[in-house]
Amino acid sequence: MLVTGAAGLIGRAVLDRCAEEGADVTALVLDDPGDLKADRVVAGDAGDPSAVRQAVRDADAVVHLAAIPSPNHHPAPEVFGNNTRATFTVLDEAGRAGVRRAVIASSLCALGLPFSPTPVSPVYVPVDEAHPLLIADPYGLSKEADEATARMAARLHGMSVVALRFPFVGGADERLPERAAELAADPSDGARELWAYLDLRDAATACWLSITRPLSGAHVLFVAAPDTLASQPTEELLARHHPGSPPRAGLPGRAVPIDLSEARRVLGFEAAHPFRL
Ligand SMILES: NC(=O)c1ccc[n+]([C@@H]2O[C@H](COP(=O)([O-])OP(=O)(O)OC[C@H]3O[C@@H](n4cnc5c(N)ncnc54)[C@H](O)[C@@H]3O)[C@@H](O)[C@H]2O)c1
Repeated sequence: MLVTGAAGLIGRAVLDRCAEEGADVTALVLDDPGDLKADRVVAGDAGDPSAVRQAVRDADAVVHLAAIPSPNHHPAPEVFGNNTRATFTVLDEAGRAGVRRAVIASSLCALGLPFSPTPVSPVYVPVDEAHPLLIADPYGLSKEADEATARMAARLHGMSVVALRFPFVGGADERLPERAAELAADPSDGARELWAYLDLRDAATACWLSITRPLSGAHVLFVAAPDTLASQPTEELLARHHPGSPPRAGLPGRAVPIDLSEARRVLGFEAAHPFRL
């Protein structure tokens, strides 16, 4: 299989999972860091058809993670252009090479809340895949375009393509402790992300299920831990920070205000690694 963005945060967790599963892996990375758990490393740009063609040779599935993961550190045209070109090129070359299973990283940011220049609240909670996209930033827009590319590739090439809308992802020793401490000090900081999170191992599991479960067509799915990274009850947080968002279901305790039933139905996915400060 091919893993793009394999040297990144989630990419390395996916390589760990592939090694556990005994999968044969090609990693596509901009620069080879020299320590990747992969059988083959191709250094190249995921938006370059010839690099992708070389990397996807002999692959039976693709995990596409290569992207600039925020709008804040690169010019907007670069964020949008890099991410959407990479997704189009990887899925198109994979389809042409006969690959019929793919998963791509979308984001909770496809909702438009996290990077909006002005605070935006959900139209209802818990949000689900039918929630309107309220995007006003180039990163969120790149993920919306990537989801459209996934649907196109599924139709054009007869592939199954899953677009996983990841929330804030981190590990027990990496990113999650700092973020949980920030939210404990100021829960308002998490309102844009709906205080959601996912452990890296669970992110890797969601990728693995996306390319191994019997599936056809394109699927856009929210994945997240069932609880939030905040310490306050969710209904209290919502009443304070998103008072105009009508609740459609009860959210007891620290339940994440995201409906996770579609990922459960399609992938059988349940996060298995809750984080506790
Ligand atoms: N980490 C999170 O919290 C989070 C949340 C939501 C979505 N995501 C998405 O998950 C994916 C992986 O994120 P991450 O946190 O591992 O990011 P990361 O920055 O750690 O890794 C991304 C990797 O992609 C590479 N890359 C970028 N553009 C490339 C290109 N054109 N060709 C080849 N490689 C390229 C980068 O060099 C980097 O190594 C991204 O698509 C990101 O948007 C991440």
